[in-house]
Amino acid sequence: MNLVERIKEKARKSVKHIALPEGDEPRTVAAAKIIKDEGIADPILLTKEQIEAPSNKTKLDAYAAALYELRKAKGLTEEAAAKLVADPMYYGMMMVKMGDADGLVSGAVHSTGDMLRPALQIIKTAPGMKLVSSSFLMECPDRTLGEDGLLVYADCVVNPCPTAEELAHIAIASADTARTLCGIAEPRVALLSFSTKGSASHALVDKVREATEIAHSLAPDLALDGEMQFDAAIVPEVGASKAKGSPVAGRANVFVFPDLQAGNIGYKITQRIGKASCFAVLQGLAKPCNDLSRGCSVDDIVSTVAATAVQSR
Ligand SMILES: CC(C)(COP(=O)(O)OP(=O)(O)OC[C@H]1O[C@@H](n2cnc3c(N)ncnc32)[C@H](O)[C@@H]1OP(=O)(O)O)[C@@H](O)C(=O)NCCC(=O)NCCS
Repeated sequence: MNLVERIKEKARKSVKHIALPEGDEPRTVAAAKIIKDEGIADPILLTKEQIEAPSNKTKLDAYAAALYELRKAKGLTEEAAAKLVADPMYYGMMMVKMGDADGLVSGAVHSTGDMLRPALQIIKTAPGMKLVSSSFLMECPDRTLGEDGLLVYADCVVNPCPTAEELAHIAIASADTARTLCGIAEPRVALLSFSTKGSASHALVDKVREATEIAHSLAPDLALDGEMQFDAAIVPEVGASKAKGSPVAGRANVFVFPDLQAGNIGYKITQRIGKASCFAVLQGLAKPCNDLSRGCSVDDIVSTVAATAVQSR
């Protein structure tokens, strides 16, 4: 069973309500039917007409009032809140916030930023989490790589230029995603750089080294090491020669890139040249919301909804 099938199987065990704010988009409508028919989740298709219908007025007003309370300190007026909740994206976020849905999936039409901003403003980070980031779950045809062919890459979506402390938090959150969503019992996290254990010196390398130290202090029991080049992280022979004695080198299954440019380029190389199948999830939000690529297929939407349902357990 591949990763997506395993995630769907987990999702079926407890059916979650997942809001789909792009409720009249054809791929989303088709995906919702499959999700319902296969018992993966209870999809809630949201459309502007349905939200603004007179029968929904009480709910709309309640969400507008709650959104105003949430964001008034940031300058949101009552009028602006009422206007925002009539947008299915904001309405869906409020459903999740108020407990009327367990999670949300969007992005077949909206850009990443359009979906991320309301998620960050309304759902916010989970208790104890410093920031929201993402993991790409990469499934490679070569099963000798990572965890039986499965590699977790972070952060390839959210944080353009993380600080050392933020990188440390991304590393810990990604290990948690590897455990909970991918079923990787022992995440082994490599913090990537163009240097391995001091082979090069530069301020960028220092940042990754500092991130590794912070992550160690925050999660002393996690198998985590850096700074490390990608080959030292993934190839046992290279790891043994460049980072002798490392608990991670040569057998990493979670890879933390130093910034968004490296991460985003890295996952696309693995996908296009390495022929890996992949999809992304957000991590660190108080409730799960996930973004799709605008080029997504119906199957991608089904998989992402299944992952969202699993994250909400
Ligand atoms: C994430 C992103 C949308 C934030 O947008 P932004 O316009 O810079 O947002 P702001 O800095 O004004 O922050 C908005 C809110 O989100 C919060 N926030 C921003 N980044 C955050 C993060 N990583 N984790 C948690 N909260 C975050 C801010 O604290 C702020 O909260 P507040 O309004 O309650 O004070 C932006 O960093 C971004 O566009 N990232 C790249 C996304 C992208 O294009 N990826 C492409 C790859 S597919």
